[in-house]
Amino acid sequence: METGLIHLHNLLRYAIVILLIVTVLKSFIGWFGKNEYSAGDNKLSLFLFISAHLQLVIGLVLYFVSDVVQAYKSLPMADIMKDAVARFWVVEHMLSMIIGIAIITLGRIMAKKAANDGAKFRRQAIYFTLAMVIIFSAIPWPEPFKIEGIARPWF
Ligand code: HEM
Repeated sequence: METGLIHLHNLLRYAIVILLIVTVLKSFIGWFGKNEYSAGDNKLSLFLFISAHLQLVIGLVLYFVSDVVQAYKSLPMADIMKDAVARFWVVEHMLSMIIGIAIITLGRIMAKKAANDGAKFRRQAIYFTLAMVIIFSAIPWPEPFKIEGIARPWF
């Protein structure tokens, strides 16, 4: 089960990466181009929201079943914080992704509440850009983007 979940978690990353890039670009174009916020724009933000929440559920399960994380979790907290690889898997990846997904959620709610189309695009652009920076920085990209121990395959 663990291997299947890791593969799913790996692949779902690309759905989130692509959806983040597209929604951020469309939000800036819509904001500065004074475009109409269409049903398609709402759908894109909804797909991003759903994929991020699905990834959150899979990630939470992995956090408790993953052999890698369990092995590091058995160390004292001070040792975990001193070791870059242990700290990444026990603290940084989980915490950054939860913060990133919370910002996506907040961005979607704030855009829905906005009074006009310009404000919807502006709010999406700001929140989703922030979430994108946090999420992209916490993905265990292959070497040379991340160090050995953190780096994982593209697929
Ligand atoms: C947008 C959100 C997230 C993205 C894009 C993401 C991405 C990834 C990627 C690409 C991997 C490497 C998979 C592989 O080895 O092929 C990974 C591993 C992992 N992720 Fe996430 N993740 C996200 C959220 C989370 C969250 C919220 C948690 C925990 C609460 C989590 C827990 C884990 C764990 C435990 C592993 C390591 C599994 C193992 O190797 O045993 N992830 N993540």
